[in-house]
Amino acid sequence: FNVPVPVNEPVKEYRPGSPEREALKIALAEFRSQETDIPMYIGGEEVRTDRRLRIAPPHDHQHTLGYFYEGEAKHVQKAIDAALTAKEAWANLPWEHRAAIFLKAAELIAGPYRARINAATMLGQSKNAFQAEIDSACELIDFLRFNVHYATDIYKQQPGSSPGVWNRLEYRPLEGFVFALTPFNFTAIAGNLPTSAALMGNTVIWKPAYTQVLSAKVIMEVLIEAGLPAGVINLIYVDGPVAGEVIFSHPDFAGIHFTGSTGVFQQIWGTIGANIHKYKTYPRIVGETGGKDFVMVHESADVDEVATGLVRGAFEYQGQKCSAASRAYIPSTLWPAVEAKMKKFLSEIKMGVTEDFSNFINAVIDERAFNKITAYIEEAKQTDKVRVVAGGNYGGSKGYFIEPTVLQVEDPAYRTMCEEIFGPVLSIYVYEPSEFDNVLKVVNTTSPYALTGSIFSKDRYVIEQAAKALENAAGNFYINDKPTGAVVGQQPFGGARASGTNDKAGSALNLYRWLSARTIKETF
Ligand code: NAD
Ligand code: ALA
Repeated sequence: FNVPVPVNEPVKEYRPGSPEREALKIALAEFRSQETDIPMYIGGEEVRTDRRLRIAPPHDHQHTLGYFYEGEAKHVQKAIDAALTAKEAWANLPWEHRAAIFLKAAELIAGPYRARINAATMLGQSKNAFQAEIDSACELIDFLRFNVHYATDIYKQQPGSSPGVWNRLEYRPLEGFVFALTPFNFTAIAGNLPTSAALMGNTVIWKPAYTQVLSAKVIMEVLIEAGLPAGVINLIYVDGPVAGEVIFSHPDFAGIHFTGSTGVFQQIWGTIGANIHKYKTYPRIVGETGGKDFVMVHESADVDEVATGLVRGAFEYQGQKCSAASRAYIPSTLWPAVEAKMKKFLSEIKMGVTEDFSNFINAVIDERAFNKITAYIEEAKQTDKVRVVAGGNYGGSKGYFIEPTVLQVEDPAYRTMCEEIFGPVLSIYVYEPSEFDNVLKVVNTTSPYALTGSIFSKDRYVIEQAAKALENAAGNFYINDKPTGAVVGQQPFGGARASGTNDKAGSALNLYRWLSARTIKETF
């Protein structure tokens, strides 16, 4: 098919007075001035229950943004029934018609829905305008467009034939339904997990995090306007374990597309394993999970690049990116200059509500996250061998605000160097330059995760040495750049070890997982 070859959606700048900023302000005011009603969407119907749960901006938790309706086991069953009913027609719909729906969804987000989806992400998940734009607008648009492009390439691939024999591969969706279980921190990921599986002909049950339901509703509005048939993606708000109990014991469960924490994924994997005899087919298990992403600095590195990379990599979106820089290893020869530069940048950063466009730091997602992150900070303050280099203050009365915090640790295996905190806390280990080789081993072994990581150096031999020594320590490895901000179509994203199955979101590798091919040999 002659599908458009995508280019990455340009990032809008939201300068004062620009049309995009004015449209965004209107969308923010609209969400602020009303209480949005957020139903589940099952089999093409809006479903409401008597369990109405309130949502609030994390940076202003006394303000009511709206209400969503929590379902129970019977709603999960209803969603499965709707997905199975919709399956045959959807799977047999010629591929270009499925593709057209998702291409249209991309156009709707790029145009009329851009301000609405960004405003929902800014208010519901406490992202500033830039972070919302690169996530809920650009990255989601890119996922939708690039997946169509990758799928076209997949469908074209056919085996060889020989005289008298014609071989072909039929790319069928999985037999059954797919469960998309999505995290709070990226609207684009929440949108990609159900739509990528659906693009390949599957029907889906989608359960988002309760802290992302506002932007999830906007995604669903877009998909419906783009022409997605009833039952293809069923959006439910049901407690994770309750949903899991129904889904993972169902014979037609064919796959899970998960992004979230490592502990939850491991638990789910165990449940699927325990139920394996119940299923008609081996379910596909695709999971992108936690990270403890490193920045390794060599003494040949450029100080400005390192300081900028650390501040942006560690603190954009309050450190709540799976890819966020959370541990750094800096030679003693560079540390004083890097420290001074980081402190200068941090002193210029403002923290506050997302509606004030000058704020770089907003709130962390909820009270649970706030308590978890501040417990790490408090423990570090009590520990002799940790120095608070910057930040360390916080306050939760209006919103869940935590200052960007930099800790210098004496022990490279101190817990903030190993565990995922998922907040604005960066731990630094300062080493003697002669220890470089040994520190590479420390980077590779002190954390179970392997999602993203960076090397900063101007020395090509050092870059090569680090790339080799850390080959299994990061699924996305960056040279002289921060470890965040992978772009669809440019840096396929995912990690291994405790960070996931490394099925690379935003690439053909991911889409293959939602197919079950049939080989046909015809002899003449
Ligand atoms: P989470 O694991 O708490 O939740 C993810 C989803 O699972 C949510 O929908 C949640 O409601 C559901 N869930 C939670 N417990 C469940 C259970 N017992 N059974 C079934 N479902 C359950 O994750 P989160 O806090 O929303 O997101 C942050 C985590 O996601 C971090 O660990 C982060 O590193 C990870 N993440 C990874 C990537 C990646 O690409 N590797 C990307 C984004 C986020
Ligand atoms: N695209 C996101 C990042 O790399 C996940 O930060």
